[in-house]
Amino acid sequence: MKKHEEKIFENEIISIFDNEADYENENALTFNKLMAYYRCAIMEIETKFNVLNEEYSLQYDRNPISSIKTRLKSPISIKEKLERNAFPVTTESIEQNLADVAGIRVICSFPEDVYALANALLRQDDIQLVKKKDYIKNPKENGYRSLHLIVAVPIFLSCEKRIMHVEIQLRTIAMDFWASLEHQIRYKKDTEFTEDMMKELYECARVSAELDMRMDELRKKCDR
Ligand code: GTP
Ligand code: MG
Repeated sequence: MKKHEEKIFENEIISIFDNEADYENENALTFNKLMAYYRCAIMEIETKFNVLNEEYSLQYDRNPISSIKTRLKSPISIKEKLERNAFPVTTESIEQNLADVAGIRVICSFPEDVYALANALLRQDDIQLVKKKDYIKNPKENGYRSLHLIVAVPIFLSCEKRIMHVEIQLRTIAMDFWASLEHQIRYKKDTEFTEDMMKELYECARVSAELDMRMDELRKKCDR
C-alpha cells in the first residue's frame, strides 16, 4: 500500500474501535495482521487464476479470463456486517464469522470458461471448497447470475501456515455488465424501485444470458 492509502486505511480502522485509545492497544495490531493475511490469500488465488489463464491461452490460443478484480472488505463494512448479524465486533470474530473479507472477481469470456476455471482451481490439492452457490444454473429472482465459491487457501508465513477464506465470484462479461449496472441502479438513493422496474431488470438479465449463449454458439462454430 502507498503511504497516503495506509493513512486512510488507518483512519478507517480507528473508526471501528470505540475510541482512539483502543486503537493503540493490541487489537489494532491483530486487526492489521489479519488484514495483511487476507491480502496474501487474495494474492495466492489471483496468481492461481493467472497461471490457469496462461496455460489455457497456450493450449487454446485465447484467454478464458477477461479481467480480475480484487477487494478487501473495508473496516467499516466489516463492522457493519458483524453488527447486522449480531456477531461480536472483535478480530477473532471476523475470521470465525465472515467469509467475504477477501474477495476476488474473475470475469470470463464465455460461460464454459467459468466452469472450466472453477473446476481447475478446485482440483488443486491446497484448495478446499467451503461453500458453492451456483447462480448461473439457478439465477436469483432478480436475474443475477454468477458462480460463487468460498474457498480455504493456505498462506505460508515465515513461521506458520495459515488457512484463510476467500470469496470468489466467477461470471462472464455479460453477467458482469448486468451486475455492475444493477448494483448502481439499486443503490440510487431517493428512487422507489417499482414492480415494472424489477421486471425490466429481470428482462435485461435474460437478454444478457441469451447473448452469452449466442456468442458461445459462435465460438463453438469457430472451434470446429
Ligand atoms: P452478503 O451478505 O451480501 O455477502 O451475501 P450472502 O452471504 O448471502 O452471499 P451471496 O453469495 O448471495 O452474495 C455475495 C455477493 O454476491 C454480494 O456481496 C454481491 O457482491 C454479489 N451479489 C449477490 N447478489 C447480487 C445481486 O442481486 N446483484 C448484484 N449486483 N450483486 C449480487
Ligand atoms: Mg458479501
